[in-house]
Amino acid sequence: MGRRWLVTGCSSGLGRAVAAAAAAAGDSVLATARKPAALHDLQRRYPDRIATAALDVCDPGQCEAAVAHAVDRLGGVDVLVNNAGTGLFGAVEEVSDQELREQLETLAIGPWRLARLVLPLMRSQGSGHIVNVSSVVGRMALPGLAAYVTAKHALEGMSQALAAEVGGLGIRVTVLEPGQFASRYGSSLAEARSRVAAYDPVTGPVREALRGMEGNADLGDPDRFAEVVLRIVAADRTPLRVPVGPDAYAYLGASDEAHREDFETARTFTLGAS
Ligand SMILES: NC(=O)c1ccc[n+]([C@@H]2O[C@H](COP(=O)([O-])OP(=O)(O)OC[C@H]3O[C@@H](n4cnc5c(N)ncnc54)[C@H](OP(=O)(O)O)[C@@H]3O)[C@@H](O)[C@H]2O)c1
Repeated sequence: MGRRWLVTGCSSGLGRAVAAAAAAAGDSVLATARKPAALHDLQRRYPDRIATAALDVCDPGQCEAAVAHAVDRLGGVDVLVNNAGTGLFGAVEEVSDQELREQLETLAIGPWRLARLVLPLMRSQGSGHIVNVSSVVGRMALPGLAAYVTAKHALEGMSQALAAEVGGLGIRVTVLEPGQFASRYGSSLAEARSRVAAYDPVTGPVREALRGMEGNADLGDPDRFAEVVLRIVAADRTPLRVPVGPDAYAYLGASDEAHREDFETARTFTLGAS
């Protein structure tokens, strides 16, 4: 029997590519989106393998209904892909409490909520895989993406705790850390309502780099991203964190080295403390 997938944020980009690739591989997929009309063509391409449902991950009732729908239509969930997400551009001083809450709700609380809903199913099956789509900035930071960085770090922390909790129950957790892939991410990036010009020199270049990602042939191809996801799900063992794309390896390699240097420098301040 093929695997049964529940994928969030399938209207475009990485989520859409993952849903299509899983269906093309013969698996069954509940593809979800805030506006399910955006999924009709996917369903027409794979009428026997793709079911669809409305799902805003910030809506607890829709999360419950989507998981119930997956049980009803597919018979269960083997793979949950927490992919849905949007970014907010703004420095710490520019982002309001409400804007921060919205990023946390979409990128960390929604995935947590869905994990909580599928875990009883996976525990009773004695198997399952939760794939959380983070970002390179789930493990490093860029100026101007403060709330997004914070929410992706929260998702990675939750994933690491969850992996330690469910490792003995036959359930796997993987955090994907994509570099830049050609999707709508950059064009749908919202701006914090407040703007403090003093930050423009450091945040401006990051903003520029994020615009115009969709269809950019120099960036990663969402279909290649989906191939990586399928390989990871099919593998017997995988690392908790998986950078995706050559740029992700370059960013995270440099960031890990900087952390190591900080760690060693910090020793000179703290050795002798007890
Ligand atoms: N592309 C990259 O370079 C990149 C890099 C690192 C990480 N990521 C992560 O990859 C994931 C997918 O992004 P993408 O690049 O594929 O961008 P995308 O093309 O903009 O797709 C994002 C998807 O998330 C959906 N979404 C947003 N808020 C939602 C919510 N509250 N509930 C349900 N769905 C929601 C969007 O649906 P609507 O159509 O309803 O807006 C859309 O389907 C995100 O988590 C993003 O942070 C992307």
